[in-house]
Amino acid sequence: MKLLVTGGAGFIGSNFVRYMVNKYPDYNIVNLDLLTYAGNLENLKDIENKPNYKFVRGDIADRDFVQGLFQEEKFDFVINFAAESHVDRSITDPGIFVQTNIQGTLALLDAAKSFDVKKYLQVSTDEVYGTLGETGYFTEETPLAANSPYSASKAGADLLVRAYHETFGLPVNITRCSNNYGPYHFPEKLIPLMIINALNDKELPVYGDGLNIRDWLYVEDHCQAIDLVLHKGRDGEVYNVGGNNERTNIDIVKTILKQLGKPESLIKYVKDRPGHDRRYAIDATKLRTELGWQPKHNFDTGIKETIDWYLNNREWWENIISGEYQEYFKSQYGDRLGVE
Ligand code: NAD
Ligand code: TYD
Repeated sequence: MKLLVTGGAGFIGSNFVRYMVNKYPDYNIVNLDLLTYAGNLENLKDIENKPNYKFVRGDIADRDFVQGLFQEEKFDFVINFAAESHVDRSITDPGIFVQTNIQGTLALLDAAKSFDVKKYLQVSTDEVYGTLGETGYFTEETPLAANSPYSASKAGADLLVRAYHETFGLPVNITRCSNNYGPYHFPEKLIPLMIINALNDKELPVYGDGLNIRDWLYVEDHCQAIDLVLHKGRDGEVYNVGGNNERTNIDIVKTILKQLGKPESLIKYVKDRPGHDRRYAIDATKLRTELGWQPKHNFDTGIKETIDWYLNNREWWENIISGEYQEYFKSQYGDRLGVE
């Protein structure tokens, strides 16, 4: 079996590559990643010399390159993680989200169709469903109602994947997962940003009233869900992935401060994100009942392990925040926090 994993140098992709390389020594896994600001080969140091693993640098939206790679490698399975993934960046620069998330997906679908792959799995997000009020859950039947340029680009890609199944009979699945957390999470996202700022005794910028809710899943549970869908998912189906761990943002931030023994006076409520979705909550009944998926990690232990990982892997994140990240932080938070 030969697998193409795109975006395998990012947060979830690198956790998935490690999981698959170790679990399936007989599979050959090719990781295609452009190494944008979010891609980091340090994430894969421990497995980079495994005989069943290979890294290729390239752009999923480069059609000729993608066709050539498929011709050469003859992939059986394609799992597409590669994406621009941060909502705040999509508000300041939406164009690259359309380019990578939509044009990139289209280039992969065309190559998958030309070279008869056995399964194309699109890693999508619950954010394509929009936002919930105080009650209710996203099911696979919830209409798409994306609110950010990021989620709009992911929804557009999902519709292309669906269309390639309906029109060309391409064997596809789409997974829509809730917010992930765990090792190698890039510190632009809520949990790693708050852990690192707290460790550096810097202010923790909480958007709006801090009561927006996300439904958190430990990254390894997501990897396991994708493994199941890849091998057992019914062609053409969408599967929601989520572990019923709804938390307000302020609750998460206070949990982090408590574990690190840092004061709540570091919290700073700042100007809200425009179009900020209020609540996400996933109904994953289909994945649980049809494919027998069962998450292994509960939030209380998962968040502790994650905080410990950041404590034990200082070098990993210190390298990241010493580079162009400084410019990013200033542009996103300079006005909000009143810092230069
Ligand atoms: P990430 O930003 O950490 O990683 C994205 C990876 O894609 C990086 O390694 C980057 O270099 C690579 N990449 C970007 N543009 C590329 C291109 N044009 N060609 C090749 N590679 C490119 O993202 P993540 O958080 O790991 O998310 C991975 C996928 O999972 C995304 O598709 C995202 O929409 C989806 N997802 C994320 C979450 C979450 O909580 N993070 C939840 C549900 C779904
Ligand atoms: P994020 O990690 O960016 O994921 P997403 O927006 O894709 O769900 O944000 C999670 C939540 O945390 C979201 O409600 C926005 C909020 N947030 C803050 O309050 N402050 C921050 O600095 C960041 C990055 C996010």
